[in-house]
Amino acid sequence: MTSNANPEAPRRDGLYSVRGLTRVYGRGSNALRALNDVSLTVSSGERLGIVGESGSGKSTLIRLMAGLDRPNSGSILYTGREITHLAERQLGFLRASVQLVFQDPRSSLNPRMRVRDIITEPLRSRLVRRHLSRDLEHQARLAEVLEAVGLSIKLADRFPHEFSGGQRQRIAIARALAPQPDVLIADEPVSALDVSVRAQVLNLLADLVRSFGLTLIVVSHDLMVVRHLCDTVVVLRQGEVEERGRAAEVFGNPQAPYTRTLWESVPRFTGGPAQKA
Ligand SMILES: Nc1ncnc2c1ncn2[C@@H]1O[C@H](COP(=O)(O)OP(=O)(O)O)[C@@H](O)[C@H]1O
Ligand SMILES: [Mg+2]
Repeated sequence: MTSNANPEAPRRDGLYSVRGLTRVYGRGSNALRALNDVSLTVSSGERLGIVGESGSGKSTLIRLMAGLDRPNSGSILYTGREITHLAERQLGFLRASVQLVFQDPRSSLNPRMRVRDIITEPLRSRLVRRHLSRDLEHQARLAEVLEAVGLSIKLADRFPHEFSGGQRQRIAIARALAPQPDVLIADEPVSALDVSVRAQVLNLLADLVRSFGLTLIVVSHDLMVVRHLCDTVVVLRQGEVEERGRAAEVFGNPQAPYTRTLWESVPRFTGGPAQKA
């Protein structure tokens, strides 16, 4: 199965180029600067982790990158195209190419829809359809992505409540894979799951990213998640980039005290920085 079947395949480098992104919520004395002058790039095939404590602006940043929200200022180039000024009807290429997995599959999956409809819905969107490869046959794709996430096609007529939390997140991942995206953005993908199934879902994500050749952007307050999945990392603090670099280096030898504090809050960490013999 190939993932880059979209007609407008992204360039190899500089898939995303984010410059000076600022997002302020509210006005006047209630104004809250959730992101302040954030710049970063994401290359095709990169696996980027965005970490930071709760409220540091992680979800705001990826919502902007997914075209779900508008910044107050700054620019986001996706495959060289500025997306911050586009109207919804012009965002089809982005909707086809960038897919999201949210924290809680209980709220991200429509409880009234059967699994088969949940997964094929993105393929039926008029906006997105134009950007999908013509030979993308819905039922075949349904079977393919269910198999990819380890669920039987026999379960396709069931509703979300008939599944466990881990299975529901697999369904959400299958839905994200269905339109053959180039980029998968996952916001706290295992935080709402039982600890016992987190590793399985993380391993699944790692396998899928490799086998489908996806670019991955993972948001997590949990550094272990990012360490497991990512090769680069951006540390956000109060809406600003505090530190960035290769994951092994940032986690192995964090420069900013804030990053060290994040590490120290990780329970039972192994292989983190400053371990004494
Ligand atoms: N829709 C919104 N309206 C007002 N404030 C918001 C909204 N979304 C987020 N915020 C605020 O912006 C800041 C950053 O939030 P968020 O991006 O969700 O952080 P994170 O994902 O790192 O926890 C927080 O202070 C949060 O309360
Ligand atoms: Mg968040």
